[in-house]
Amino acid sequence: MQEPYLIELQKIGDEEIGYISVAQAFSNIPFQIKRVYWIYQTPDVVERGNHAHKNAVQVLVCLKGKIKITLENKQRQVVEFMLDNPNQGLYIPNYYWRKLNFFEEGICLSLSSSDYSEEDYIRDYQEFLL
Ligand code: TYD
Repeated sequence: MQEPYLIELQKIGDEEIGYISVAQAFSNIPFQIKRVYWIYQTPDVVERGNHAHKNAVQVLVCLKGKIKITLENKQRQVVEFMLDNPNQGLYIPNYYWRKLNFFEEGICLSLSSSDYSEEDYIRDYQEFLL
């Protein structure tokens, strides 16, 4: 079973001109990126996620603001990450239940290993624990 981990993305530039960070498949991202989406304008009081994926693995990047990401595996081990830095990515293996909380107008970029498929989702927590 794989574990979640943080990926340091290179930060190119300086404080005068700003920065570029790059996500590249099989270089700093450990899979072929098939889909990119972003989550934005989520109020602080909303909790997103509350699902796991059967096959898809992902890297999440906080482009703006702060995002608290709580991950739990089937053994009920919980690990929490606070992302607030656009040169950091969080790798999430499959079969991790995730909860996302957004702060300070957080924007979350998601790189996914697969096309969108509702069949790949587990949205029922009890089913996830089976
Ligand atoms: P979902 O993955 O459940 O978002 P979150 O866990 O952040 O709340 O997706 C929310 C809705 O958007 C759901 O109806 C499915 C739809 N959706 C797509 O149509 N395509 C996609 O690539 C994604 C990620 C979601």
